[in-house]
Amino acid sequence: MKGIILAGGSGTRLYPTTLVTSKQLLPVFDKPMIYYPLSVLMLAGIKNILIITTEKDMPDFQKLLGNGERFGINLSYKPQTKPNGLAEAFIIGSDFIGDDCVTLILGDNIFFGPRFSGTLKYRTKFIEKHGGACIFSYPVKQPERFGIVEFDENGIISIEEKPAVPKSNYAVTGLYMYDNSVVGYAKALEPSARGELEITDINNIYLKNKKLSMEKLGRGFSWLDTGTHHSLLQAGQYVQTIEENQGIKMACLEEIAFRMKFLSRNKILNNIKDVKNNDYYDYIRNLVK
Ligand code: DAU
Repeated sequence: MKGIILAGGSGTRLYPTTLVTSKQLLPVFDKPMIYYPLSVLMLAGIKNILIITTEKDMPDFQKLLGNGERFGINLSYKPQTKPNGLAEAFIIGSDFIGDDCVTLILGDNIFFGPRFSGTLKYRTKFIEKHGGACIFSYPVKQPERFGIVEFDENGIISIEEKPAVPKSNYAVTGLYMYDNSVVGYAKALEPSARGELEITDINNIYLKNKKLSMEKLGRGFSWLDTGTHHSLLQAGQYVQTIEENQGIKMACLEEIAFRMKFLSRNKILNNIKDVKNNDYYDYIRNLVK
């Protein structure tokens, strides 16, 4: 399984905060936003990851994350010239994906909840073995803002992108797992009425072929939005509350690298040896000890 983080877009909703930097590099409490989706891919056991961003912002992402060796993973980068739609990720990333399955996560999506890493590993293995696709749904208050999935006890019935009259309140979150057919499907897509290559159209192809499954992320799970100043601040406060109440860090990439055995204790300690008087790095030091 390969991984792609889509971290482009114009970020105009967050102007002037995003006038000179990418939205996905803004802090969510104590770390840059992209750490959160990157942590999800690492928890799924994915080590080969492509970051797609704008041409302008790419050097900043490279400065922040490098080739990934600090986290025991392999990172590569590709630009998206215009926000042509989420499904363009599979066209830009087609050489990178090669013959593999692929998980796509949006660079501004934050997931946190019990047993999530087990769920991710199970779904990854399932698609690698049996093919098909998997979406992750989550109940929301304003369903008309999202891709919406309608389902009953027999499975998924329909998926609609931002419907005026939503058939359920379950949003399709920005985390998607696919077998290798996704590349061909993306290449054959026509832009939608709003001029984008829609991920919802891809999901509908899998649905039509009876190859789409769904993981419902329910009560007790958090899927956080960072799309407005208000929700970005709320996400930061949420992370602060969890971290300070529980004494743990969310999306600490070094911790995940250690727990997943991507990196040895000595490598991690060596990587951070020069940073002193810093809460984030002290946390890592205590943890690996
Ligand atoms: O967040 C989940 C939702 O994401 C899904 O429920 C929808 O089905 C899906 O279409 C998408 O809806 P959004 O309206 O949130 O998509 P948006 O255009 O805001 O893009 C999401 C992120 O992806 C955003 O941070 C910008 C980035 N992006 C977007 C496009 C269209 C890119 O990097 N490239 C793009 O071409």
